[in-house]
Amino acid sequence: MVKNFFDLSGRVALVTGASRGLGQYLARALAQAGADLVVTARRREDTESFARELRALGRGAASLSLDVRDEASIRNMAEEAEAAFGKVDILVNNAGCNVRKPSVEVAWEDWNKVLDTNLRGTFFVAQAVARRMIPRGYGRIVNIGSVTSVFGYGGIAPYCASRGGVKQLTMSLADEWGRHGINVNCLAPGWFRTEQNKVLYENPSWVEYLRERIPLHRPGLPDDLDGAIVFLASEASAYVTGQTLLVDGGITTGSLKATAD
Ligand SMILES: NC(=O)c1ccc[n+]([C@@H]2O[C@H](COP(=O)([O-])OP(=O)(O)OC[C@H]3O[C@@H](n4cnc5c(N)ncnc54)[C@H](OP(=O)(O)O)[C@@H]3O)[C@@H](O)[C@H]2O)c1
Repeated sequence: MVKNFFDLSGRVALVTGASRGLGQYLARALAQAGADLVVTARRREDTESFARELRALGRGAASLSLDVRDEASIRNMAEEAEAAFGKVDILVNNAGCNVRKPSVEVAWEDWNKVLDTNLRGTFFVAQAVARRMIPRGYGRIVNIGSVTSVFGYGGIAPYCASRGGVKQLTMSLADEWGRHGINVNCLAPGWFRTEQNKVLYENPSWVEYLRERIPLHRPGLPDDLDGAIVFLASEASAYVTGQTLLVDGGITTGSLKATAD
């Protein structure tokens, strides 16, 4: 008999920022691999219909409200998630935001919003969930990073700082929680069209510029992250921790043309 290392039957996955975009792509992939899901966003109503969609796949699915910038909200969510299915095996720390501005115009509030959501939120959600994973001796935490975890881009400096931080945080938590059976990795998507960046995709010349710079010659599509998230959430990655897996069509391989053709 061949073991299916990617089977998530019996596992419970919690995905933050699942009211739209990548959070829904990732949650759907985990459900298709067999996991039950807890999906969260700031307003519970915004994840209810998505939870219904997941239940239609034959999975258990609960929707909860969570504001990752609010300590009490994180504490409540961790309790309610535990109550929903009795445990959380897999955490996908996906909630995030961006502010696009030249660095000379970034306000104190812009910096706080981006760093509090993307970096502080990622840490404290991981902490709240890991406190319950540790006694059980099992967990998979996937922090969503970005190509900006390894690259810097002008015009989104706070975002890049937060994503670089998520990569470092991933290594620290992996180092600390490995002995408790918790693997912590970072999944770093390239460019996917969502609410967060739709303003860029409205400009055809920017889309062409992006396509030119991506070795696989296209932005990411909704199911391009499925294999990577199921890998990092499953037994297939049992001996992988502290890593950043870039799923970016190759854009971080070096996209500057060094020939004159
Ligand atoms: N799209 C890309 O190309 C790309 C590439 C690399 C990384 N990422 C990262 O992937 C994640 C998802 O991105 P996306 O493109 O799908 O963005 P999106 O469409 O803007 O979705 C962001 C999600 O985060 C949630 N969120 C924002 N602030 C929150 C808060 N304070 N508390 C709880 N939830 C919050 C939103 O929920 P509500 O607003 O409903 O609460 C929403 O579900 C983000 O962390 C993003 O930085 C995106």
